[in-house]
Amino acid sequence: MAIEQTFSIIKPDAVERGLIAEILKMITDSGLKIKGMKMMRMDRAKAEGFYAVHKERPFFGELVDYMISGPVVVSCLEGDNAIERYRALMGATNPADAAEGTIRAAYGINIQNNACHGSDGPDTARTEVAYFFNDDELVG
Ligand code: TYD
Repeated sequence: MAIEQTFSIIKPDAVERGLIAEILKMITDSGLKIKGMKMMRMDRAKAEGFYAVHKERPFFGELVDYMISGPVVVSCLEGDNAIERYRALMGATNPADAAEGTIRAAYGINIQNNACHGSDGPDTARTEVAYFFNDDELVG
């Protein structure tokens, strides 16, 4: 197994409901290490850039509106096989389909307000970490 970094967002619906600590506890209990973390509020350009891959999808406008509707907590997570492990911990995109014990099963509301984001592969992980963090912010 290779040590990997992945990128995580605790999304506005979860921050708004006071779930930051619960979700971070699930992350650290799973053995993933927090390399860097901050609370921030994305502006429209930042969110549109982050989800640029989805810009032709019908849900893009609403997704961007939602992602800028309140603060988020972004983090860089590190560990063996971190990308796949964090995807497994989050569960399926739609919380209704997410396995028991996953973040989205516990805290997701619907397919858009699904509590968290995690990178889906090594290239996106690198791009997404760099989109939100400078090297000197990865201090963990
Ligand atoms: P996607 O990359 O398919 O899922 P994941 O977050 O599990 O990698 O979609 C990105 C986000 O887009 C998803 O977390 C929530 C939003 N989304 C919708 O709002 N509606 C949809 O029908 C889909 C597929 C995604």
